[in-house]
Amino acid sequence: MTSKGHFITFEGIDGSGKSTQARMLADRLREEGHDVVLTREPGGSPGAEEIRALVLQGDPDRWSAETELLLFTAARRDHMERLIQPAIDAGQIVICDRFADSTRMYQGLSRGDLRSKVDVLHDLMIAREPDLTILIDMDPAQGLARAKGRQGVEERFEDFGADLQKKMRAGFLALATEFSDRFRTIDGARAINNVATDVHATTMAHLASSD
Ligand code: ADP
Ligand code: TYD
Repeated sequence: MTSKGHFITFEGIDGSGKSTQARMLADRLREEGHDVVLTREPGGSPGAEEIRALVLQGDPDRWSAETELLLFTAARRDHMERLIQPAIDAGQIVICDRFADSTRMYQGLSRGDLRSKVDVLHDLMIAREPDLTILIDMDPAQGLARAKGRQGVEERFEDFGADLQKKMRAGFLALATEFSDRFRTIDGARAINNVATDVHATTMAHLASSD
């Protein structure tokens, strides 16, 4: 039913509800007859999933910010080449849980100011922004409590703690202003279904305006 491809990303701090909302949006759009690809970063293609294990497991100081930037960008390039771009070209709606805005924040901001290096590498190797970015915004303490509740092995970034999450929240809100044409901010500190209703309405408005 979908004729034109779309690229939609979810961004926000850890535990804000991105994965939950991305999945709910994908389910609802499929019920409505759209052809949807749900994916995530880091990962989303077999090669990028291997890089995911390298960057998310182990000690918080396992990699420098610069090395991490190269690894995330390598994963993204593979994901873009093998999954995202072919799906967009085939007219599908690609929904991706995190994308380059996460690199702008986590590698660009968390340990010194690497934002200009992030942008140069992005322009050189990825050169594509999403059509719509949904920022799920919420209080970092609440997000961290939710994320910690998962108790998995992928804890490198969660171990950075509450101060980093505060900085990330402010950084994401600043990005939403910088890229106001494609960003839409939604309050994530509400019941799951209420957030999902807003996410769906925002997506429908985007699809209607770009068809
Ligand atoms: P993220 O992908 O942003 O890290 P998740 O979608 O994995 O966030 O959600 C983190 C945890 O919080 C999960 O256990 C999820 O079930 C729960 N959760 C998600 N959204 C909400 C919400 N609106 N209210 C309460 N709990 C939520
Ligand atoms: P994710 O699995 O989405 O974690 P969460 O569900 O807790 O939000 O992402 C894992 C971590 O990877 C997250 O803490 C942010 C980090 N990350 C980066 O540092 N740079 C990136 O480019 C991406 C995509 C993620």
